Amino acid sequence: MTTKKDDDVSRYFTSPPAPLVREICEELILSQENLKEVCDVLHEELNKGLGKDTNPEATIKCFPTYVRELPNGKEKGRFLALDLGGTNFRVLLIQLGEKCSMDSRIYAVPQPIMVGPGDGLFDHIAECLASFIKERELGDELLPLGFTFSFPCKQEGLTKARLARWTKGFKCAGVEGRDVVELLKAAIARRGDVKIKICAILNDTTGTLMSCAWKNHNCRIGLIVGTGTNACYMEKLEKVELWDGDLDEPHQVIINTEWGAFGDNGCLDFIRTEYDNNIDCESINPGRQLYEKMISGMYMGEIARQVIIRLVAEGLLFDGKSSEILEEKGSFFTKYISEIESDKPGDYNNCRVILEELGLNSATDTDCANVRHVCECVSRRAAYLAAAGVAVLLNRIGEESVTVAVDGSVYRFHPHFHNLMTEQISHLIKPGMKFGLMLSEDGSGRGAALVAAVASRNSR
Ligand code: GLC
Repeated sequence: MTTKKDDDVSRYFTSPPAPLVREICEELILSQENLKEVCDVLHEELNKGLGKDTNPEATIKCFPTYVRELPNGKEKGRFLALDLGGTNFRVLLIQLGEKCSMDSRIYAVPQPIMVGPGDGLFDHIAECLASFIKERELGDELLPLGFTFSFPCKQEGLTKARLARWTKGFKCAGVEGRDVVELLKAAIARRGDVKIKICAILNDTTGTLMSCAWKNHNCRIGLIVGTGTNACYMEKLEKVELWDGDLDEPHQVIINTEWGAFGDNGCLDFIRTEYDNNIDCESINPGRQLYEKMISGMYMGEIARQVIIRLVAEGLLFDGKSSEILEEKGSFFTKYISEIESDKPGDYNNCRVILEELGLNSATDTDCANVRHVCECVSRRAAYLAAAGVAVLLNRIGEESVTVAVDGSVYRFHPHFHNLMTEQISHLIKPGMKFGLMLSEDGSGRGAALVAAVASRNSR
């Protein structure tokens, strides 16, 4: 785990050479007032999610996870984990204890499977699991398994989770409303060649929190800014009207907020732009996950592309000439934003390579500076919005010093995301509070093992 060094973030913002470009990008820039309002609204929406009477109508569902204990650092044993919900599907073998180790394999989830019938998806998962077990010769052991399934699920226990709805480009028929643990077990039973014991199903945010909390006892929040965005946090049971489990110690439970859906009732319209609208209309889940669509890696590149196209159309970029590739939806990858902003200010090496990949071979320095400005506006807005979310959670928790565990490709690879978030969170939290954002290594794997370990500790 590493904490990156804090820094003066103003220097990441290079001015665009063309005043008209600045003007057009202005609507992507959020004022402090805007961000404070986002915080206030989010706080209210979280309350609605947690309230028994208000939850059915709430957009942020605040699902209790049934994970109530954080690891104490002494967990040990061998575990399997499955990780579905990011760009790849992974199977992992994790050893916890004095000596920790992790062995994993990535399997592709072909696009037709992502949007095909649900049984096809679970058969694919079971097949990958079976081949991993065979390759690693684990067939004789009945290993406990944690299933990191990173979609909104209404949990009914540690091993029971009904998919509320698909997000992030998945849309398999016949899964919404069903218990995904049962679906996985059924797929495994159809094969008949694998023995496993599913001990826990969890969200990637929970895994991230658990993985960091293992060694860091101030950790109370898990955050993902990757393909999607979401956060979970440890809440007191008395604040969770929804809670239907026992009232024994500890009086707390991790809440998977599913904050990606923030704004789906129109409450973020005051900051949404025409670009956000376009992205939403063209997505496979229009009207859904509107906060996520302003922040996460699945959409950031496309927002930048939309702005760039507009600037070309106005004659403000590339002499008014676009390219065939740039006109294609999805051609401006989110990783381009990280790469372009990794160039030293005034230096456009990465930027030029990317523009050439996009078929734009005669970009001037001015064009590059303007493209960089677009990227900065898009990533800064995303970082500030995520920061507003974290600030709300920190203020709710109200402890003096809290560590936030973070994972996801955008946070990991964008050169300034950590510092932008840190700076903005400090403006938005109550005075006197201390916090740190900490990269949490492999929450979906180790975190799954830890949830399984804590679960088996309690069931013994
Ligand atoms: C989406 C999913 C959520 C997940 C997040 C990050 O928002 O709905 O469950 O945690 O992406 O992967």
